[in-house]
Formats: sequence, C-alpha cells, structure tokens
Amino acid sequence: MKREKFGSRLGFILISAGCAIGLGNVWRFPYITGQYGGAAFVLIYLCCLVLLGLPIMIMEFSVGRAAGCSIARAFERLEPLGTKWHWYKWFGIAGNYLLMMFYTTIGGWLLIYLFKMAAGSFEGMDTARIQGEFSDLMGQPVLMTVFMVAVVVMCFGVVSLGLQKGVEGITKIMMVLLLALLIILAVRAVTLPGAGAGLEFYLLPDFGKMKEAGIMEVVSAAMGQSFFTLSLGIGAMEIFGSYIDKKRALPGEAVCITILDTSVALISGLIIFPASFAFGVNPDSGPNLIFITLPNIFNSMAGGRLWGAIFFLCMFFAAASTIIAVFENIIAFAMDLTGCSRRKAVVINLIAIIVLSMPCVLGYNVLSGFAPLGEGSAILDLEDFIVSNNLLPLGSLVYVLFCTTRYGWGWKNFLKEANTGQGPKFPKWVRLYVTIVVPIIVLFLFIQGYWSKFAS
Ligand code: PHE
Repeated sequence: MKREKFGSRLGFILISAGCAIGLGNVWRFPYITGQYGGAAFVLIYLCCLVLLGLPIMIMEFSVGRAAGCSIARAFERLEPLGTKWHWYKWFGIAGNYLLMMFYTTIGGWLLIYLFKMAAGSFEGMDTARIQGEFSDLMGQPVLMTVFMVAVVVMCFGVVSLGLQKGVEGITKIMMVLLLALLIILAVRAVTLPGAGAGLEFYLLPDFGKMKEAGIMEVVSAAMGQSFFTLSLGIGAMEIFGSYIDKKRALPGEAVCITILDTSVALISGLIIFPASFAFGVNPDSGPNLIFITLPNIFNSMAGGRLWGAIFFLCMFFAAASTIIAVFENIIAFAMDLTGCSRRKAVVINLIAIIVLSMPCVLGYNVLSGFAPLGEGSAILDLEDFIVSNNLLPLGSLVYVLFCTTRYGWGWKNFLKEANTGQGPKFPKWVRLYVTIVVPIIVLFLFIQGYWSKFAS
C-alpha cells in the first residue's frame, strides 16, 4: 500500500506546529515563567530554542524524510550495518505513550472547564469556592474518566479518517482558529486597566530573581521547556518529516514551526500575566495557574464568562492538536511495525490509551496515597518527569549523535537530506558546535536537572 503524504506545505507546517503547540505553550510556559521570575527566564528559554531545539528539530525531520517511515523502522533503515541505534525506538514510542497517559487527562479537565465556563458555573463564586471546584473535580474519578475517554475518542476519530482528510484537514482549522482567538484574548488582556505591571514582570528581565532560584537550575528548566514545547526527542516530529516531499530544504520549515510555537507561548504569556496583575493575583502559583487562578480572574472581568469560554476553547484546541499528532505517530508506529491497517491500529490503541490513562486519573483520588516524587506529587508528576526530564533530553541526544557522528547515520548524510530542496540551508560551519558542544550542554543540563530536583 502506498504511504499517504501531506496535501500541502502549509498542511505540514501547521500540523507540525499543532504537535508542538500544546499544553507546553499555554499552560507550562506561563507557570514556569511565573515561578522563575519572568523575563529573565524567557530570555534564556529563547536562547535554548534557537541553540538547542532548532538544530534537533531539523535532525528529526531529516531522519523522518530520509527514512520515509516512523521511528518503528527509521533507525534500521539509516544506521550502519550491525549497529543498535534502532533499540531507541522502544524508548521513543514509550515516550509517546507516557506523554498521552497524562495529557489526555488534562485534555479532559480542559473540556470540563470549557463547559463550566460557557455555562457560567463559576459566576458569583469566591476564590475559596473556585479552588474548591478544582479539588472537587479531582475527587470525581468517574467524571474525569468520562471526559478523558471523550477526548481520546474524538482525537482517535480524527486520526482514523486518515492523514489528509483527518489529521491535516481538522488540525489546520483548529490551528487557524487558535491563533486568531489568542490574538483577540491578548488584545483584551493588555488593555485591561492595571495590565502594565504584568507586562513589566513579563518583559523586563530581573536577573536578581533568577539568582535566587539558582542560575543553573533556571537554565536546565529552560532547556527542558524548549525540548518539551518543540516535541523533540521521541520521534513525534520525525513522523511528519516522513510525510513530506523533497521540494523544500528542512531548516526553513523548522524555523517557521519554531516561530509559530514560540509566538503562541509568548502570546499566552501576554494574556496571563497582564490579566493576573490587573486583578491582583500572583502568577507564580504553579500548575494550578489555569484551573484556579484564571477562573478567578474571569469572574471579576466584565464579560468574563465569554472571555473565559474562549480561553478554555483555545487551551482545548492546543491540547487536542497535540494529542491528534501524537496519536498519528502511535498509529504510524503500529502500522510500520506490524503492517496492520489504520483501522486496526486505531481500535487497539484507542483501548490501550484509555486503559493506560487510568492511573493518572486515579492518582488524584483512589490512588492519592501514592506520592511517587515526594509529598504532594501525583502519578501525573511521575509520568511527566519520566518523559520531560529523561526521555526528551536523552532522546534528543540520540538524534544528535546519530546525525553527527560516523557511528550513526553521519554528518554528510544528514546534511544532504536537511539541505535537499529550496530555501535556507543548514550551515556547514556549525558542525563542530552540533557535534561536540550540543551533546555536552544537553548532558550537562540533564544531570543538573537531576541534581536540582533531588539533591536540594
Ligand atoms: N510540544 C507539546 C506541548 O507543548 C508536548 C509534546 C512533547 C508533544 C513531546 C509531543 C512530544 O504541549
């Protein structure tokens, strides 16, 4: 059977951007920025995107396009005879499943909040009550399961329609709507009276705050965030490289996708920080930011019910576009590995993902006694930790070494593939940097991340 390709270049860029743009942009980025003191963190994060993320994205796309398949077979096709790079496929695919094991639950929460906002359920509630709403939700495993299953079924529904009709057609519409709605929300937020203090916090670097947190800790968090937001290291981008032709060189495409992804993160900050400061709430509350802090803000805002509903719709689009993209990768993996049909792969994985998502749902209620990463942590945190702090940086390292050293696919092959087609090329002179400096930085920051997590 002939493999389906994307219908257009725009499709490829928007789908890859859809995979990249997700909770990492609209949820993680604002709260991490809030915790690490605003603009100084943003600056370092931008450096990580360009210096580490971008070259690695180009490498993933190159591997995908050259091999013409998912990570199930890509390394086998490109590696030198007798080498074992292909073992990485199991870690890569495990990363995709693990990510979905908590992402679908958060997707469900977003859907619940979207309905609640639109129905005006928060109106008239005080801060304590809104906080109570979130903890009540955590105590309702059945409700959480229903919405998690709804998200999984919807997203697999899209994937089952095929690459062009399903994934490309639907994600394209969601991304365009997402961008438009975010801009409207940002304009509303920055024109709120009192928004200036939020803009200052967000846009003026304060290195003092960063020193407090520890500079190396901040830098390793920034690297982690840049890999997470660009979906690097587990073949989630690689798959989309396998669906394109050779008309365009890959560096230009990766730049477009990185710019789109970064814009969405920055715009989310432009919504959340001015709004928080305008209503006198602290944006450093961590992961709860969007489920507790923000409903409070919408409550005190004129027309807050509408703005709140639009906001959660954006969040949901962002999450769903990522889930659809990762599901597509999971399905392609199954098809490449076993030669089964799309239908069969969808049915089996639909069931598998629902079952696998249950621990995360139950981690907040039935299994809440289990705090894998210390007091107050839940199963979600453990899954997130395995993916974000381990598989993404180490997987990125595998891609870099595979593409730059002669023990893997090698520099020449990589460069040739990346630069085939029109548009900006990957510069030859950065070879030393990507071969030696990038792996050392990634490894160093990886160890540093462990250090700051467990030693202090
Ligand atoms: N980039 C996605 C986000 O920002 C998360 C992701 C990570 C997706 C790794 C796929 C692979 O939410």
